[in-house]
Amino acid sequence: MSKIRNDFLWGASTSAYQVEGSISEDGKVSSIMDDVANRDNYSKDITDFRDASGHYKNWKEDVKLFAEMGMKSYRFSISWPRIMKNLKGDVNEQGIKFYSDLIDELIKYKIEPVVTIYHFDAPNFIFEDGKFTDKRFIQLFENYCKVLFEAYGSKVKYWLTINELNMFAMASSAIGILKSNQIINRWQIVHALNVAQARAINLCHEMLPNAKIGPAPNLGCIYTNSSKPIDYTAKLNMDLVRNWVYLDIACKGHYSKTFLEFVKKNNEVFLIDPKDMEDIKRAKPDFIAFNYYSSMTVEMTNEETNIKLAQDQQSGHTIPNFAAAVKNTNLEKTQFGWEIDPQGFKNTLREVYERYNLPIMITENGIGARDVLTKDGKIHDTYRIEYYQKHISKMLEAINEGVDIIGYMPWSAIDLVSTHEGISKRYGFIYVNRNEFDLKDMKRYKKDSFYWYKDLIATNGEKI
Ligand code: BG6
Repeated sequence: MSKIRNDFLWGASTSAYQVEGSISEDGKVSSIMDDVANRDNYSKDITDFRDASGHYKNWKEDVKLFAEMGMKSYRFSISWPRIMKNLKGDVNEQGIKFYSDLIDELIKYKIEPVVTIYHFDAPNFIFEDGKFTDKRFIQLFENYCKVLFEAYGSKVKYWLTINELNMFAMASSAIGILKSNQIINRWQIVHALNVAQARAINLCHEMLPNAKIGPAPNLGCIYTNSSKPIDYTAKLNMDLVRNWVYLDIACKGHYSKTFLEFVKKNNEVFLIDPKDMEDIKRAKPDFIAFNYYSSMTVEMTNEETNIKLAQDQQSGHTIPNFAAAVKNTNLEKTQFGWEIDPQGFKNTLREVYERYNLPIMITENGIGARDVLTKDGKIHDTYRIEYYQKHISKMLEAINEGVDIIGYMPWSAIDLVSTHEGISKRYGFIYVNRNEFDLKDMKRYKKDSFYWYKDLIATNGEKI
């Protein structure tokens, strides 16, 4: 007998800038993601986010398909630059209306809206007058949260603060917020984000006593490459900056001493205003949401080697004598080279629950693949079904073993543009007929995984 809740939030996820398109419509101001194609590290062979999946225009039809699949929840992000117009704090009423209509439509179909407040697409105006400071960033973010809570608080119960706050440190080049040369370093911006997150949690609890709010990092358990004791030290190091610093601050209200020593040892700027720590201590998340794609395997680096801090899309940060990500030869990989580790999913669920003892919501998990649309309009994505079968089975095992999981919203509800690998890296249950530079007709097709997931949801996870 499965111990899964009857009200389990089976659903799926997207983010605004990856799915909506229409980047200059209805008063939306520009975001740091709009000019991604001009970045040195963005490939010229893939699309940018200008048109994405056309969801801004096609949202009603898309929600209808979500309802047909039986989704009980939909995790999406609100585009900060659609809502806030400038540094003065003027609000774009057309932006407010767009998400209000979307939320109403979801509720009409009994789909629980799960809202990410900020998913990578910061408005460019935060850098506009050349005076970017983390204090001001925090203030602007808090103002934006207030606008959202006022506009949607009566309809939205579940809020997520900042998507993958930890990836601002681990994958800053893909996310872009560190492009401004005014930002002193990644840990300082991570601190600013932590304070911004705490303010959002506190404000939400003050304004919306019935709402629930939580952080949404990207987590993955860490293995050692050998049984050498020094590799276990590497694991502890990596665990600290990959996983726990962000949740310790969100759930326990403090930075661990080992993290503070690590920052000091690496001569990184890390200035903490004691007043900020008061906000952080007061903020108590109601649940932990996290995104899981893969585990990580590490070994110790030596004094002379500067090796990438992480694998996959996470790159660029090098630290000697710390830890280095290495290939795990026990794991298969996706077409895009990401390791597939369902057991690692269960391990991560166990670790997070045992460490923080809060309900867990999975807000991303999924496989990016080059799906093929057949002549008769089908997409036979058996690899995606297999991926989900394995991961969901492990999640159900974790539930049966006592981990409190309240929802599963894999990536992604519908095809969208990957953070840095274009539209050809498809994740959706619904296919969008376009390719990198040809928008074709943007028609929606149900993949085989759509029908499979529909059955799974209808049986509350029984028919896997
Ligand atoms: C997560 C992000 O890191 O992974 C998403 O929250 C992203 O925005 C997803 O799309 C998959 O990563 P990618 O790089 O394949 O798009």
